[in-house]
Amino acid sequence: MRIPDPALVVLVGPSGAGKSTWAAARYRREEVVSSDALRGVVGSGPHDLDATEEAFTLLERIVDARLARGLTTVVDTLGLDAERRSRWLLAARGAGLPAVLVLMDTPDAECRRRNSSRDRPVPASALAGQLRRHRELVRAAEAEGWDLVHRVEPDTGRVADSAAERTVHRTTPERRTSQGLRVVLQVSRFPWGEDPAGWMAAIARAADEAGFAGLALMDHLIQIPQVDRAWEPIPEPWVTLGLVAGLGTGLSLGTLVTPVTFRPAGITAKAAATLDALTGGRAFVGVGAGWWAREHAAYGLDLPPARERLDALAAAIETMRALWAPGTKAYDGQRVSLPETTCYPDRPDASR
Ligand code: UTP
Ligand code: MG
Repeated sequence: MRIPDPALVVLVGPSGAGKSTWAAARYRREEVVSSDALRGVVGSGPHDLDATEEAFTLLERIVDARLARGLTTVVDTLGLDAERRSRWLLAARGAGLPAVLVLMDTPDAECRRRNSSRDRPVPASALAGQLRRHRELVRAAEAEGWDLVHRVEPDTGRVADSAAERTVHRTTPERRTSQGLRVVLQVSRFPWGEDPAGWMAAIARAADEAGFAGLALMDHLIQIPQVDRAWEPIPEPWVTLGLVAGLGTGLSLGTLVTPVTFRPAGITAKAAATLDALTGGRAFVGVGAGWWAREHAAYGLDLPPARERLDALAAAIETMRALWAPGTKAYDGQRVSLPETTCYPDRPDASR
């Protein structure tokens, strides 16, 4: 089930149900407003119950401020207080955002087991009370008026099943979905630590195993703020795709997307033709007009006005097609003239 975004997302579940784990796997840290974390901010730590009142005062302010800006807000508390829930629901309505209730369906015994193995377990009687209130809420939730009630199945750790799914993917010819689409994994972050090549190879092999049709790398000179911090690694993609080409996967490889402002189009055509030869015809090129002034300035590249960049994009596509076409004859096109089009290695299947 797809949870809309942006949205207000209210988590509900007893201690140890896995609320914070679920949220951390799906949302950015800033999007999750947690009463435990705020107890740690205004109290001595996440378990400082004396700080509860102030933590919730802050929590309500943060929820209101984020919703007023139309930002996704995940409220990570026990969620068992009906008054608070109805307040959050109204706040979402006021902000015009969908309101989603996420119910953890973790079995009671599993909550108890996780609780008892924690450093600071909730007292058994308190957990029993939470479990009871949770059961009541599960029955009543639909009537509260949420736009969506999402139930999180317990994590059953289905190792055997996922192996079977992999086999199915691998046998799909052409790696198409049931709708005939080919899905490419776009990699834009490279948290590769001490082992860049090993990390990159592991990602590519996992994408291949999972049945992706291809792997694409983002082409930026500085990591963009939408993705990560400026000092995180962002590799030159054509060099990096060369490494992936050597792994022997069945993935199509290319960039999403290469700005025409970075390299003369002929050089991109040469890089792609080389990659195509090295992968037996599995290269592709995503091209765009470029947009980020900061990286152009830092690397001494021009970033002309948008109209000129879009003209350059059209000319670049024409140049690449001319160089990739069979033969070496002169090219005289709409925007581009070349005295010859000698580009070897040739594409293995230049008719594509
Ligand atoms: P959480 O810390 O996510 O639970 O998981 P919670 O619902 O937010 O609990 P409270 O209300 O803040 O106390 C509890 C423990 O269960 C494990 C987590 O690693 C953590 O140690 N867990 C969670 C799993 O083992 N599997 C899961 O699918 C989820
Ligand atoms: Mg938690």
